[in-house]
Formats: sequence, structure tokens, C-alpha cells
Amino acid sequence: MEEAQSVLEPEVLREEIKKEYAHVATNPEDEFHFHTGRRLAAILEYDEELVNSVPESGLESFAGTGNPFAMGRLSEGENVVDVGSGAGFDTLLAAQMVGTEGNVIGVEMTAEMREKAVGAAEEMGLTNVQFVDGLAERLPVEKEWADVIISNGVINLCMDKLGVFKQLYRALKPEGRLQISDIIVQKAVPDSAKLKIDLWTG
Ligand SMILES: C[S@@+](CC[C@H](N)C(=O)[O-])C[C@H]1O[C@@H](n2cnc3c(N)ncnc32)[C@H](O)[C@@H]1O
Repeated sequence: MEEAQSVLEPEVLREEIKKEYAHVATNPEDEFHFHTGRRLAAILEYDEELVNSVPESGLESFAGTGNPFAMGRLSEGENVVDVGSGAGFDTLLAAQMVGTEGNVIGVEMTAEMREKAVGAAEEMGLTNVQFVDGLAERLPVEKEWADVIISNGVINLCMDKLGVFKQLYRALKPEGRLQISDIIVQKAVPDSAKLKIDLWTG
């Protein structure tokens, strides 16, 4: 009989999350435990004109939990970080909002997602956006670079939430702001549930 797991290592969890989101990137038409793509964008009440501005490769693997722009549009010229940018849907919307005077960095650990995002940005001819390999827990962004940090459905997948928020505050300008959509719980999650990888990735 296998010994029950008593500790979940962050690296093990990240590898499982990468597998799940590589699947969302490469087979977006499959069934998942969550909505995806154009249908999800409609459920979350994204502006239809903005949705239609993004090519299918940047839209079909969208897997957010909310709409960070429901807290307000971004302004021209702002520097933006999208933490866990996936296939780039929000990042590409942000790049259009901030215009050529602004800059957007999408930070994403799953290569298959980054590949789709880069392809979509090229298709849109955007020159103010880049997608970099990196972790929310070690943001590859200079101190006090960002006017605004957006993130959609990512922090719930990170074990070290305090560590992530420390990184967000390091990367933000002192007067900067967060526009984050994510999942919160109102009751403490039992330790036994925290060991179940399927509950994290789903
Ligand atoms: C639910 S998806 C959301 C993607 C994107 N924000 C969107 O709205 O479509 C979560 C994404 O976060 C990435 N991710 C999860 N944990 C991460 C971490 N610790 N650092 C960087 N990216 C992470 C996953 O690879 C996945 O692409």
C-alpha cells in the first residue's frame, strides 16, 4: 500500500499545474472543470468589441476567474504586469488600453501558454507587450516598475500567497494599484484537502 502523502512540495504542485494548463493551451476544445475561451469571456461580461480584437489563439485558452478590468480600464502610458498571463487574453487587452507609450509584461510559467500569447501579440502587431518565463513567487520585474498589476485566476494556484503579495508590492510603484480577479475562501481549507493536487489544479 502506498504511504499517504503528508507534505505537498511547491515544485511538485507547479509541475502538475503546468500539465493542466499546457492541456488548456494545446487542446482548448476539451472539457475542463472550468469554463474557457469566448464563452467564459461572455460570462464574465468582457466588452465584446475588446474580445473580438484578440485573435483566436489568444482567446480560446482564456481561463480566468473574473474580469480585472471590471475595476476600471487602464490608462494610456501605464506600465502593467499580468501575473500568470496564460495565453495572453488580458495582457493583450491591457496592451491596447495603455497604447504605444505604455508597456506590458506577461509573466507565465507554462511554455505552451506563452507560445500562444506571443503568436497572438504578433498577429495583432503589438510592440508594447512581452511574455516572459517566470513565477509569481519570483517576479522577473524591476522594483517599483509597475503602475498596475493585473492577475486573473492565478494566486489561488500558488501555495505561498504571502510570498506572492510581497512580490506584487515590490514590483509596484508606491502609488501603484492591483486589479486582481481570483478565488477566495470564506472558511479555512482543511489540511487534508490542501494535499490533494486535483483540488489545486481544477
Ligand atoms: C487559471 S489560468 C489563468 C490564465 C490567465 N490569467 C487567463 O485569465 O486566462 C492560470 C495560469 O497561471 C499560470 N500559473 C500558475 N501558477 C503560476 C505561478 N506560480 N507563476 C506563474 N504562472 C503561474 C498557469 O500556468 C496558467 O497559465
